Amino acid sequence: MVTHKRVLVTGGCGYIGSHTLVSLLDPSTASRTNVVYSVVVVDNLVNSSSESLRRVADVVALDGGFATSDDGLSGRDAGGRLEFRKVDCADISALRAVFEEFAPLGGFDAAVHFAGLKAVGESKSMPLRYYEVNLGTTLTLLDLMEEYGCRSIVFSSSATVYGVAKDEKAKLKETDEVGTTITNCYGRTKYMIEQILQDFHASHESSQHEGGGGDDGGKRDAAKDNPWSVVVLRYFNPAGAHPSGKMGEDPSGVPNNLMPFVAQVAVGRRPHVTVFGNDYDTPDGTGVRDYLHVMDLADGHVAALGYADGATTGDNSRSGRGKLSTFNLGTGTGYSVLDMVDAFGRAVGRPIPVVVGPRRPGDVTIYMADPTRAKEEMGWEARKDLDDMCRDLWSWQTNNPNGYRDAA
Ligand code: NAD
Ligand code: WQD
Repeated sequence: MVTHKRVLVTGGCGYIGSHTLVSLLDPSTASRTNVVYSVVVVDNLVNSSSESLRRVADVVALDGGFATSDDGLSGRDAGGRLEFRKVDCADISALRAVFEEFAPLGGFDAAVHFAGLKAVGESKSMPLRYYEVNLGTTLTLLDLMEEYGCRSIVFSSSATVYGVAKDEKAKLKETDEVGTTITNCYGRTKYMIEQILQDFHASHESSQHEGGGGDDGGKRDAAKDNPWSVVVLRYFNPAGAHPSGKMGEDPSGVPNNLMPFVAQVAVGRRPHVTVFGNDYDTPDGTGVRDYLHVMDLADGHVAALGYADGATTGDNSRSGRGKLSTFNLGTGTGYSVLDMVDAFGRAVGRPIPVVVGPRRPGDVTIYMADPTRAKEEMGWEARKDLDDMCRDLWSWQTNNPNGYRDAA
């Protein structure tokens, strides 16, 4: 039987959010999961444009495309499956208006919370803004979800919460220590939000369970008693773009991350890639990361929503209903900076110029996920490889050399 779910997506106009909308709205998702998703995007467009939603509608062939109002404050597709409200999620009255608007239609079944600021360097120079936005949006959202009875949330965390691992060469597991050795303020906001979610989730466990009370000596599964399902996703290094070449990452100013920078060099917007250090303890001396295709990451959110909802459709999937669960989303394979630059050169058909510079302060040597838990519990694993990431990123970059700006 097909069910309909309405999901609130904060920050849905951004890079990962917009690709996740494609996964949620794509007809293949409905046939695979038996769930037809409608989404309501709330975003203040501080780091994005609503053009991304037009592209989403185009890519998934939504009836009549997507149109915004004259003042650009709202938008929708003809079928009402993709709605947009320009809202600052830290503004409780503005966000409440959205909950209020959709309450007569049955409200939201779940929220996916992408909204936030994400530039590591910027977070060091404006820490208060990062705490205000990243924590503020989360607290406001949780308050309203509680008030309006929407008790399922998927949160965008980051591998950065692991900080500097004791054994840098080991794949990171969800059970590894987090928090203590984080090298930047952005990462600490993610860690703090994880803590907030844990405290919030624990506060909803039944008092019978707490302290070992109840007729089973406290051994009963707390999940059965908890109305809240919380899924924390720790992304490793998202890269690539939608295979159509119509959607991708659209950084403003100089890209902070490696792959968008490499793509801008390839298209002639910048002269060379500066490699941040080649004296690390890695095979070629450059930093190693676990890059995953943004569409695999997007699919991870569909898996997480199903998991939180208790769906057990995947080969191995289990139920996360009533639980707080944390998952690494990565491939489990590491590539160096030079591996990535070479792979992109292959996609482009010519080498990318590089210059070796000093290390970037705060960078770790190696980050690689152990993604076993996501596979065992949610039935999710990355399917695309490095060449897919580079091909799709190159296609996006060549079709849209100035990102969404030209279209807007
Ligand atoms: P993004 O900047 O493209 O998307 C974030 C979106 O949130 C943007 O559209 C922005 O306009 C919106 N936003 C910011 N503040 C807001 C506010 N107060 N109210 C409403 N909307 C607001 O970033 P992304 O790469 O898509 O990342 C999405 C989430 O994933 C972020 O929380 C980020 O921290 C997290 N994350 C990203 C990466 C990465 O490498 N891209 C890695 C790990 C985690
Ligand atoms: C990757 C590698 C650099 C740029 C960051 C955040 C993390 C997460 C993902 C949000 C490193 C090297 C980079 C360049 C280079 N974001 N590099 N020249 O630092 O692993 O992770 O983005 O949550 O929290 O910290 O990603 O893409 O910046 O760097 O040599 O111009 O590329 O030193 O080894 P990072 P990145």
